[in-house]
Amino acid sequence: MTARIVVGMDVADLPTPVVVVDRAILRRNVAAMAAHARRLGVALRPHWKTTKSAQAARLQLEAGAVGLTAATAAEMQALADGISPSVFLAYPPVGRARTDAVLAAMRSAEVIIGADSVDAVRDLAERVHALGRTVAVRLDVDTGLRRTGVVPEKAVGAARALAAMPGVVVEGVWTHEGQVQGVGADETRRMKAGVAAGRLLVETAEAIRADGIPVTSVSVGSTPGARSAPTVPGITEMRPGTYVLGDENQVRIGTVENDDVAVSVHSSVVSIEPEPWVIIDAGIKAMSSDGSTHGDGRIGTVIGPSGGVVVTGHEEHGFLQGATGVRVGDVVKVRPNHACGVVNMHSQIAVVEDGVVVDVWPVLARH
Ligand SMILES: Cc1ncc(COP(=O)(O)O)c(C=O)c1O
Repeated sequence: MTARIVVGMDVADLPTPVVVVDRAILRRNVAAMAAHARRLGVALRPHWKTTKSAQAARLQLEAGAVGLTAATAAEMQALADGISPSVFLAYPPVGRARTDAVLAAMRSAEVIIGADSVDAVRDLAERVHALGRTVAVRLDVDTGLRRTGVVPEKAVGAARALAAMPGVVVEGVWTHEGQVQGVGADETRRMKAGVAAGRLLVETAEAIRADGIPVTSVSVGSTPGARSAPTVPGITEMRPGTYVLGDENQVRIGTVENDDVAVSVHSSVVSIEPEPWVIIDAGIKAMSSDGSTHGDGRIGTVIGPSGGVVVTGHEEHGFLQGATGVRVGDVVKVRPNHACGVVNMHSQIAVVEDGVVVDVWPVLARH
C-alpha cells in the first residue's frame, strides 16, 4: 500500500519521495502562457505529457487552450475520454494498438494525427476509410531537431502522398523545435533559432498550399521556443508543455524564471555514510535519469538552505553532493532537470499552497 497523501496535510508530513506542485505558481504559468498566445493571436495547445493530470489540463483549457497535445496513445485516450474536446497526437500512429486507440478516441473528441509518412498512417487511413470517415493529419516537418519529420525539401512530396490516401485529410504541418533548447543560455541565439524554425515551417506550409493542398494549421511547440517560434507571421498554433511546471533545465537556459518553477521532489536524507556522501530517498525511480543541460550528469538541484546537487542515482538512492548541515531524517526539496520525466515516475502529485496540501492529482496514462 502506498503512503497516503491527504488534503489538509502539512507539507512537512508528506511521505517521501513525493512530487510536489505549487498550485499558485502553476496557475500563474497557465495564465501567462495563455496571455502570451492571445497577444500573438495564435492558438494554444499545451503538451499534456508534462503533468498528465486532468486537473492541470482543465486549468489550461479554462484559460483558453483550444485542446491539448499527446505523445502516447494512452495520453490521447485519457484526454479524449472527457478531459479535452480536441487532441493532437504528435506521434506517428504506428501499430494496431495505436490505430485502435485513435479510432476509440475519435468517438469522443476531435483527434488530429501527426505523421511524416504514408506507411505510418496506412492502417489507420484504411480503417477510417472503411468506416466512411476521414482522419485529420498534420505533416511532421523537421526544422532542425533531427527527430522524425520530413526535411522541408521533401515536404510537398510527402504531403501530396498523404493527401492521395483515401481516408486522410492533410490539415496542417507541425514541428517540435527542440533544437532551441540545445542552443543553451544565449538568448539572442535562442531567439534566432526559434524564429528560423518558425519561418521554415511557414515556408513549408506555403509550398504545400502552392501545390494545391490547403493546409490551415501551422503548429510549433516547445518551451524554449515559445517566445520566438510562434511570433513568426503564419504560425497558427503553439504547443509548449514544460512551461506549466518549469524545471532546472529551463531555469539554466533562462526560459523559465527561478520563481516560476512549480515542481519539486521532496526527499528524505536516509544516510550520511560513507563520507562524504549524503544519500536521499529520491533515486532515478523518483527523479528520472533524464540528462541535464548542465552537461554534467546531475539529476537534480536542491532548493533551500542546505544547497547541494543530486549528482547521480541508483533506483531508490540519490547521491547528494555539496549539501551543508543536513542530518538523517531531514527533508530536502529537489528541483528536477526535466519535470516531464519526473511526473511520469509518480502515480500522484501533491498539490500545495502555503505549506498545506490542497489537492491530490492522479497522474494518468503512465503507460
Ligand atoms: C511534439 C512536441 N510538441 C511539444 C513539446 C513541448 O515542448 P517542451 O517540453 O519544451 O515544452 C514536445 C516536447 O517534447 C514535443 O515532443
